[in-house]
Amino acid sequence: MFDFFNTDTSKTNTNAIDLLKADHDNVKELFDQFKKSENARARKKLVRQALTELKLHAAVEEEIFYPAVRAHVGKDLMNEADEEHHVAKLLIAELEDAQGHGDHFDAKFTVLSENVRHHIKEEEDEMLPKAKELKMDFDKLGEKMLARKTQLLEKGFPSVGEEKMVAATHSKGDSPALAARRKKPANARAKPSKTAKRK
Ligand SMILES: [Fe+2]
Repeated sequence: MFDFFNTDTSKTNTNAIDLLKADHDNVKELFDQFKKSENARARKKLVRQALTELKLHAAVEEEIFYPAVRAHVGKDLMNEADEEHHVAKLLIAELEDAQGHGDHFDAKFTVLSENVRHHIKEEEDEMLPKAKELKMDFDKLGEKMLARKTQLLEKGFPSVGEEKMVAATHSKGDSPALAARRKKPANARAKPSKTAKRK
């Protein structure tokens, strides 16, 4: 059993790259459990856990890890990672705003999980091996990341641009989901056919 939100540095390996990979394993496990679970309450709990885990992970990457490795890893990979975080944070903000309601909620979480899996693969296949080449104290970097996670869990997350974007549209920014909600099923408007009347 893995330990969610474990930020105790006394006996843990604090290597920043190992910590990021452990985070990746944690969220992938939550995505798998969500896929398998048929219990609505359990699924909601899994979504809550995954969103918190993802927000912690994104914050320490953006504030601590990415700036430390950006110059060496290079603009192309790093900018792509930034944009993947942006999309994930938009979906996270919408999921938090929906609070488990709406018929697109599960689909939105599934799309988030697919995007995050792709992002994780790129980080593990390309970014992290490149970052590893740096002569850097990755244990110290990891300690900073764990300390920041503790602080975020205790004091809460600062508001991010994506949350403001979602709040500004009053949850109406997802145009395909909104259109699907407005549209009546085609057969609801159809008049009964002559054949049907005769029966
Ligand atoms: Fe990331």
